[in-house]
Amino acid sequence: MSRRTTLTQYLIEQQREHNNIPGDLRLLIEVVARACKAIAHHVSKGALGDVLGTAGSENIQGEVQKKLDVLSNEILLEANEWGGNLAAMASEELEEIHPIPNRYPKGEYLLLFDPLDGSSNIDVNVSIGTIFSVLRCPDGEHPTEQSFLQEGTKQVAAGYAVYGPQTVLVLTTGNGVQSFTLDRELGSWVLTTRNMTIPADTHEYAINASNARHWYPPVTRYVGELLAGKDGPRGADFNMRWTASMVADVNRILVRGGIFMYPADKRDPSRPGRLRLLYEANPMSFIVEQAGGAATTGTTRILDVKPQHLHERVAVFLGSKNEVERVTGYHAP
Ligand code: F6P
Ligand code: MN
Repeated sequence: MSRRTTLTQYLIEQQREHNNIPGDLRLLIEVVARACKAIAHHVSKGALGDVLGTAGSENIQGEVQKKLDVLSNEILLEANEWGGNLAAMASEELEEIHPIPNRYPKGEYLLLFDPLDGSSNIDVNVSIGTIFSVLRCPDGEHPTEQSFLQEGTKQVAAGYAVYGPQTVLVLTTGNGVQSFTLDRELGSWVLTTRNMTIPADTHEYAINASNARHWYPPVTRYVGELLAGKDGPRGADFNMRWTASMVADVNRILVRGGIFMYPADKRDPSRPGRLRLLYEANPMSFIVEQAGGAATTGTTRILDVKPQHLHERVAVFLGSKNEVERVTGYHAP
C-alpha cells in the first residue's frame, strides 16, 4: 500500500524542509482542523442530530442564525481557547473580538473564521463549509479590534473545509495549496491533492445573476459578453455555476478553474458587496493566489486592502487569472 501523508505529517515535513511552520502554528492549524472534523460530524447528522433550522437569533450582520452557525462557532471557540497558541479570535458570528480568557496561556497568533459558510444550504443538504485565516498578533497579549485590521498579505495561514459529498480541508501556509480528505474510519485528514493550481483560462463563471439589474456597468459588460457566447466578442460559450456557498464555488475553482464574482452593486454604496473581507475574501484570496489565480475588488488586489472594520464587506472577483484580469480591466477608468 502506498504511504499516505496525513495533515500532521505534511505540516512537520514542511517545517523540516522549508522552516515555515513553527510548532505553535502547526498545533494551531491542527486544532482548527480537529474542530472542522467535529463540525463535519454534526453537519452529517442532519435531522438525526437536531441541528437543522434556525437558532432564533441574529448575528452582527443582521442575518438569522441557523443552529449550525451557532454550534460551529462554539466548537471553534472552545477548541481554540485552551491551546495556548492564540491571543484572540474573531468570528463572523460575534460582534466583538474574543480574547483568550485569562485562565488559559496565550500565544502570538490571531484566528479569524466564518464558522459555517453558505448557511442557507444547511437545511437543503448542499455543501457548506468553514473558512479560517491566521495572523500574527502585533500587540502581544493585549489584542484589540485594531490588531485584526491587517492586510491579507500578512496572513500566515488560511484554509477552508467543505462539508460535502467528501469532507475536504484546503490549506495554505504560503507555500502552495494542499487539499486533504477526511478519512472518517481513521479520523485523519489525508493529503489527496498536492499543489493545487488554477488554470489561467476558464469557460465557467459564478455569480448570483438575480442581482443583474443592480450591477455597475463593468460587471454588466463582462457578464453580457459571457452570455453572448460564441456569437459575442469572446467567440466562445461559457457555462454558469452558482451554489450559494462560497466554499463550494471556490473549491470547484481550485479543482477545475473558473471565476467567482460577488460584486459591489448600486443597492447600498456603504455596503460594497456581500462577502466579509476578514473572514471570507482574505483567506480565499490568499489560497487562490497561492494556487496561481488572482483576486481583486475590481480595482484593487484584495490582499492589499487595508481593513477599517472587523466586519467590513468587500467586492470579490477571484479565480482563473486571465478572467479576473479581464473583468478588473473593465473597471479601469
Ligand atoms: O457567506 C456569504 C454567502 O453565503 C456565501 O457563502 C455565498 O457565496 C453567498 O453568500 C451567497 O449569496 P446569495 O444569497 O446572494 O446567493
Ligand atoms: Mn460565509
